[in-house]
Amino acid sequence: MSFLSDTLARVKPSPTIAVTTMAAELKAAGRDVIGLGAGEPDFDTPQNIKDAAIAAINAGKTKYTAPDGIPELKAAICAKFKRENGLTYVPNQISVGSGGKQNLYNALMATLNPGDEVIIPAPYWVSYPDMVLLAGGTPVAIEATLENAFKITPEQLEAAITPKTKWFIFNSPSNPTGAGYSRKQLKALTDVLMRHPHVWVMSDDMYEHLAYDDFEFCSPAEVEPGLYERTLTCNGVSKAYAMTGWRIGYAAGPKPLIDAMRKVQSQSTSNPCTISQWAAVEALNGPQDYLAPNAELFKRRRDLVVGMLNQIEGMTCPRPEGAFYVYPSIKGLIGKTTKGGKLISNDEDFATALLEETGVAVVFGAAFGLSPNFRISYATSDENLKEACTRIQDFCAALS
Ligand SMILES: Cc1ncc(COP(=O)(O)O)c(C=O)c1O
Repeated sequence: MSFLSDTLARVKPSPTIAVTTMAAELKAAGRDVIGLGAGEPDFDTPQNIKDAAIAAINAGKTKYTAPDGIPELKAAICAKFKRENGLTYVPNQISVGSGGKQNLYNALMATLNPGDEVIIPAPYWVSYPDMVLLAGGTPVAIEATLENAFKITPEQLEAAITPKTKWFIFNSPSNPTGAGYSRKQLKALTDVLMRHPHVWVMSDDMYEHLAYDDFEFCSPAEVEPGLYERTLTCNGVSKAYAMTGWRIGYAAGPKPLIDAMRKVQSQSTSNPCTISQWAAVEALNGPQDYLAPNAELFKRRRDLVVGMLNQIEGMTCPRPEGAFYVYPSIKGLIGKTTKGGKLISNDEDFATALLEETGVAVVFGAAFGLSPNFRISYATSDENLKEACTRIQDFCAALS
């Protein structure tokens, strides 16, 4: 009998962390490695936010807080939802967690029973299915194909719903594809959900502020007010404010669900870091003027990467609406052999050989539930991106 739980046996370790670790090991061994695996902005947290944290420390704001957040942060979050999303929430409908991840996890832990199904469009952020498994539920993936710009159709959603469906997880713009649903596309999905009152919506809006060209971000409870009573709207400061290490995320929804999530959190981690909460108050209430230039910078990088990858024969790279990822298909490269003699029979072979032979670290598509593809995070310098894409071009040109 294993000492470890049966539940844990169903869960995979994070493949994105595995790639980052492997790249770091090669770098430590002296190899020239360019890491395109990490999902975090490459720039520093803005100074006003750091100053707010330092001021909090100096003012002695270093004790426990209420498990799901200080009133000042909850008020800032309510104001943000009103200002940016047209959504009205009061403080007892808000939960603050240690990163966006914890709110999703708390909600799943608080609601799933064995046999409950959670619909997840694939490719998905790697943590969704495993969090569902940890909470005792069953993930049900629906494939968002490249042909449909990595978006699911209303028909697919309708077909996936069963009497056991508890949640539909929605993430736009998406990790790993960057795909963003227009208001019209989202309305078509919410129309389906309106016909199935037992299904709740978990909207992960983490990449809201990373939206490009004329793409207009929208969230399910705003697009369809009829879903407000069964939607958990999740967001956080990690990506928009370059605060990944501060660990603050937040969620808004019906009070009974928020109360249940607080119960999970109060018996696990208690409150998110007090100092980080004060920093997040400043992030949300302070100047927002760096968001647009940051998005512009990412858009330029997206265009650079998409342009260079689409020059490669056998590779197709759609131009996504947001986030800082691209998810090219390598369908035309399967079956070929690398210069170093490795057969590429799937996207994991491709990513492994690419790292070994060129030092470029990407994450293979199977990790996100759609193959044969790979994910590039373009949250790194233009120089790194140009060099990495040139190496990928040379690697692919040498395939036979
Ligand atoms: C789609 C998505 N949701 C949530 C998160 C978690 O964010 P946090 O670092 O705030 O926990 C991530 C992080 O990569 C993400 O990509």
